[in-house]
Amino acid sequence: MHSVLIIGCGSIGERHLRCFTQTGRAKVTACDANPELLQRMADTYGVATVSDSAEALRGSFDAVVICTPAHFHVSMAIQALRAGKHVLVEKPLSHSLAGLDELFRAHEQSGKQLAVAYIYRVIPFLAEAAAYLAGGELGPVLQATATSGQAFHLLRPAYAETYYRDRRMGGGAIQDALTHLANWMEGVLGPTDTVICDCAHLALPKVEVEDTVHILARHGPVPVAYTLNQFQAPNETTLQFNTARGSLKIEFHRQRWGTFTHGAADWEWRQSPPVERDSHFTRQAGAFLDLIEGRPSGLCSLADAAQTLRFNLAALASAERGARVATAENFA
Ligand SMILES: NC(=O)c1ccc[n+]([C@@H]2O[C@H](COP(=O)([O-])OP(=O)(O)OC[C@H]3O[C@@H](n4cnc5c(N)ncnc54)[C@H](O)[C@@H]3O)[C@@H](O)[C@H]2O)c1
Repeated sequence: MHSVLIIGCGSIGERHLRCFTQTGRAKVTACDANPELLQRMADTYGVATVSDSAEALRGSFDAVVICTPAHFHVSMAIQALRAGKHVLVEKPLSHSLAGLDELFRAHEQSGKQLAVAYIYRVIPFLAEAAAYLAGGELGPVLQATATSGQAFHLLRPAYAETYYRDRRMGGGAIQDALTHLANWMEGVLGPTDTVICDCAHLALPKVEVEDTVHILARHGPVPVAYTLNQFQAPNETTLQFNTARGSLKIEFHRQRWGTFTHGAADWEWRQSPPVERDSHFTRQAGAFLDLIEGRPSGLCSLADAAQTLRFNLAALASAERGARVATAENFA
């Protein structure tokens, strides 16, 4: 049984708390700066609690799950590694490059595992589609699209009171939502070299951050077009990979992927059974426990998450400047 400290028990932290417990392989302790929230965790789940994260990190936990807003992630991950803990940290890795070199050094010196909780990495039907593409039956991907939208105000009614309202806390559609797509696409196509981004705040009340994003990215030679808005009624996400022999399409909202080759009359779908959202997070928790036990996990590495952080920062810089921006830039 692993002892796991969850720091930050808000929306996603509570889910991690529940899902780590569901693995049957972890004894969880909850940490949050908000005493009422912490009491609710104790009452609902019967877990031990601690309010001060610095004090908690001196405790004898094997691993820490960092679920605070993004501007805390790097400093908390460094503290946790230096205290000899394995770390699972929520996405995005951060809102800036500050402290990143130190985090890489702390990780190397610690001998501990660190993974970033980009949840798409553990969703089975996405992994099947990625494996099919990697198998080469369709030939190399020449071009791809990622189209996503949902009514964020209905899915997360309190969004305006959270980190979401401020880019400096990891808020806005690019860092909060599109980053999932970018990270998964980078896992399939390789790192993004450059982006051109147009974004705007169009609809979500009570915030000024962008709720709409259009990005043209180059993942090596592969051009990818991303579009996302956070106000449309249907909650839909579709990814399509086009090759000289055919196409592969993923319909996230229908939990299916399919192929269409030249000469075919229609898509040939592979349907996954419907699952509760918690099941992905329980799978992720299990994968992280596998990782700290020395087994392969498929989770997003520190290096991959740092690359996606560069994608986020390049997109924000491109929108600001109205120009193409390289992800390798030094975003001071
Ligand atoms: N993977 C996903 O699907 C997913 C979904 C939602 C959020 N997230 C990410 O998870 C992170 C948290 O998001 P959220 O929606 O849970 O936010 P939230 O605002 O609901 O919760 C954050 C919690 O952290 C606590 N906190 C802040 N500073 C703290 C400190 N120093 N010590 C202890 N507790 C502290 C707050 O009191 C709050 O309860 C963000 O980076 C977000 O992008 C990921």
